[in-house]
Amino acid sequence: MRSFSGLAWAMLAVAVDRAAAACNTWEKQINLTMCNWQGLRVNVLHDTVFLDGGLLWLMKGYEDGCGSPINDGNYQGYIYYLNLSTPFNASSDFMTVLNNKTVAGGVASNLAPNYVDGFMFSNDDEFYLYGGMLRATNVTDPPADDTVLGYEAYQYGSDASFWAPGWHAEDLPSGMTRYITNGAGASAPSENLGFYFSGMRAPDWGSFDYIGLQSNTTANTLISVDMSEMGDSKWANDTLPDYILGRSKAELVWVPVAESGILVAIGGVVDPVEFFRRTKLDDSQIANSKNISPTFMETVSVYDVKSQAWYLQNTTGDIPPQLTQFCSVLASASDGSSHNIYIYGGYDGLDYNGNPSDDVYILSLPSFKWVKAYKGTSTHSRSGHRCIKIYPDQMLVFGGQHVDTSHCLEDGVIVNFNLNSLKFQEQYDPSQWAEYQVPKILTDQIGGDSSGGATITAPSSWTNSSLEGVFDIKYTKTIATYWPYDSTSAAESNTKGHGLATWAKAVIGVLCGVFGLALIIAGIWFYRRRRRQRQESKSQTTEDPGNMEERKLMYAGGPTSPRPGPVSNSTGADTGVTHSTVQDSIGTSVSPRTVESGGDAVYEMHAFYLDSSPAELPTQYNITSSTPNTSPPLSPLRSPDSPVSLQSIAESDSGQPYQPGHYRSPSSLSNVPSVSIDDVVTGRTSYFQESFENGNLQRPRHGSEISEASASSDDRGRFSGHDTIHE
Ligand SMILES: *[C@@H]1O[C@H](CO)[C@@H](O)[C@H](O)[C@H]1NC(C)=O
Ligand SMILES: *[C@@H]1O[C@H](CO)[C@@H](O)[C@H](O)[C@H]1NC(C)=O
Ligand SMILES: *[C@@H]1O[C@H](CO)[C@@H](O)[C@H](O)[C@H]1NC(C)=O
Ligand SMILES: *[C@@H]1O[C@H](CO)[C@@H](O)[C@H](O)[C@H]1NC(C)=O
Ligand SMILES: *[C@@H]1O[C@H](CO)[C@@H](O)[C@H](O)[C@H]1NC(C)=O
Ligand SMILES: *[C@@H]1O[C@H](CO)[C@@H](O)[C@H](O)[C@H]1NC(C)=O
Ligand SMILES: *[C@@H]1O[C@H](CO)[C@@H](O)[C@H](O)[C@H]1NC(C)=O
Ligand SMILES: *[C@@H]1O[C@H](CO)[C@@H](O)[C@H](O)[C@H]1NC(C)=O
Ligand SMILES: *[C@@H]1O[C@H](CO)[C@@H](O)[C@H](O)[C@H]1NC(C)=O
Repeated sequence: MRSFSGLAWAMLAVAVDRAAAACNTWEKQINLTMCNWQGLRVNVLHDTVFLDGGLLWLMKGYEDGCGSPINDGNYQGYIYYLNLSTPFNASSDFMTVLNNKTVAGGVASNLAPNYVDGFMFSNDDEFYLYGGMLRATNVTDPPADDTVLGYEAYQYGSDASFWAPGWHAEDLPSGMTRYITNGAGASAPSENLGFYFSGMRAPDWGSFDYIGLQSNTTANTLISVDMSEMGDSKWANDTLPDYILGRSKAELVWVPVAESGILVAIGGVVDPVEFFRRTKLDDSQIANSKNISPTFMETVSVYDVKSQAWYLQNTTGDIPPQLTQFCSVLASASDGSSHNIYIYGGYDGLDYNGNPSDDVYILSLPSFKWVKAYKGTSTHSRSGHRCIKIYPDQMLVFGGQHVDTSHCLEDGVIVNFNLNSLKFQEQYDPSQWAEYQVPKILTDQIGGDSSGGATITAPSSWTNSSLEGVFDIKYTKTIATYWPYDSTSAAESNTKGHGLATWAKAVIGVLCGVFGLALIIAGIWFYRRRRRQRQESKSQTTEDPGNMEERKLMYAGGPTSPRPGPVSNSTGADTGVTHSTVQDSIGTSVSPRTVESGGDAVYEMHAFYLDSSPAELPTQYNITSSTPNTSPPLSPLRSPDSPVSLQSIAESDSGQPYQPGHYRSPSSLSNVPSVSIDDVVTGRTSYFQESFENGNLQRPRHGSEISEASASSDDRGRFSGHDTIHE
């Protein structure tokens, strides 16, 4: 599958495993697969899902069937993305299904280290990365405490003439920091808003990191960001009222109700064990969690965005148990008579060793009734994942972790749950989708049929009667959608078109210097014309598969709400508006390279590119050949942090009290010179190096060794019985 350079092989050969691993280290590595990935931040811009940060564990497969998990800590600063035109199934190689790019220049900048948790706010045209835990290092300076990183993919709003897709850093307003994690995030593209509800912080609101676990205090804040102005976000930090309790890793769902929508906060826990994995929870913490955490499912918190008022509302029905680290999406009946929040997976915040949930529950609004929609299995379960509704009837589940980092996720790091049939589908295919239909199990409770017509349109009693008035107001803004995505056949003709357009763009850029402005103008004119024509034919074809008109209407087609993943929606502008600004952006970004060399592009971060190419993520404007990696090989000195490895588990033997936990992947902080991307692939080299420098020659090499190593820590049992990696 993967071919290695001769040098890599030689190094592999040198890195003999002295720890007497059961895996035959002379065996040939035959593949490298994505194993589990929790704590990631995911969102969608048009037809592309971005996956950032988190703890990504890869599994190296050997000829003899052995597997050895590795985690390089993503010190090169990669962001992954999925083009929703790409079909896949459980046997797909997600290393190729997902593309990657370095973030904002990768290690060349200190702006984009790998965060665990936090959130990706988006309005479909740009996104911001906020919050989360750094995997601390003493070598690289962390980003400033008030810096956020944004990425603009599609131009909107004001017409900056030298705009091009790219990364930019922004400052938070005074008094605000990035020091918050494990909140519940939501994006509302039609409002250009993002929210981060509660979460965990350090006792002094100061800095913390993933290893230090200083973020052990609940935050009672609602952070919000207004993205109306491209590249100039407005941030706010509001304190929650006393009756809205703080919690870790709830789910926040934006629902199209009332003038500007409402937020519904579901689940989450207090005293989550993942922040007390050194000390363990004491009895009073456990009692506290068992007392309070279930109430976050029984009584949900509702926030009216327009009036900024919080309400509590009791729920009825099949109320799920306490959960944290789960995910959610929203699907609305086509007539808007019910808004159905699907939640999936998660764990209880108490049992570090436990098998997470694999169940799907639906909370239907405005009846506030829970229904258990799907009973999962003990092998497929996951927590720490994210969900995005990519089609009206399909929710993709990204990442997560099953029990511990040595367990690869069943059916792969992306699975597809069908919101209509209430089953996991075996595959994702962009040409296969349907409109949302309210499942029978739900209409049995709320009345009506698959297309809506719910007869129960209020809870059995309003906990706060003022909330009834909020639900009486209809949401009237348009929610844009970007499905259906090019499926493979359609992709062919499109690729052609794009190829030409890209080519034209490049030529225009070159000619610019030579022949001057006249040619640019001509080029722009041709380009726009081509663009407009394509746009027109495109919007015609998009109408085919379903009733486009209807889908553009408010609730039609389950516009969805952005939950952690705003699903396929966009700015409040209707698609026509979006398209026209898009045309402008093309006209003005004809030659990004030229702009860069000019040096005064407002949103570009030239200083951070250093020796790598501009870190542009893919949009329909800049796909060229498919060369995903623009950064040159990095010298070991450039990437100061050691790759994380199983070794860190062994370190718990030798004094470091690290316990893999729900954030179960051990990460090593040892400052050992490391390793280019090649070493990621042939990670033994770096392990060997580390072990040598640490004087620790015991190197676990595969899953069962993890088990042994960890069993000797004080966290005995976490891995016991799970040493089955290669069996
Ligand atoms: C990778 O290799 C392992 C070990 O030989 C094997 O069990 C597994 O099926 C392979 N995975 C893929 C996706 O080829
Ligand atoms: C899964 O996808 C692969 C290509 O990625 C394809 O060869 C295979 O037939 C698919 N399997 C199923 C069951 O669809
Ligand atoms: C990035 O993508 C390239 C090309 O598919 C692949 O070879 C490489 O392994 C990927 N890098 C990471 C860190 O996943
Ligand atoms: C929110 O405001 C509080 C003061 O009310 C401040 O202490 C805290 O640091 C702020 N939170 C963030 C994440 O900026
Ligand atoms: C919370 O973190 C702070 C800072 O690391 C530490 O001093 C304190 O003891 C921690 N509290 C608990 C309950 O663990
Ligand atoms: C209902 O909610 C409003 C808005 O948050 C609040 O002002 C009011 O006190 C609440 N009423 C009751 C009875 O809780
Ligand atoms: C809501 O639920 C709580 C806890 O079960 C209960 O104490 C309260 O009376 C309920 N409120 C209403 C209006 O039913
Ligand atoms: C995704 O892939 C499709 C089909 O190849 C292509 O038309 C589209 O432009 C791609 N999207 C992006 C953002 O590159
Ligand atoms: C980082 O520096 C601090 C203080 O200098 C030290 O206590 C800590 O152990 C260092 N951490 C690592 C991972 O080297």
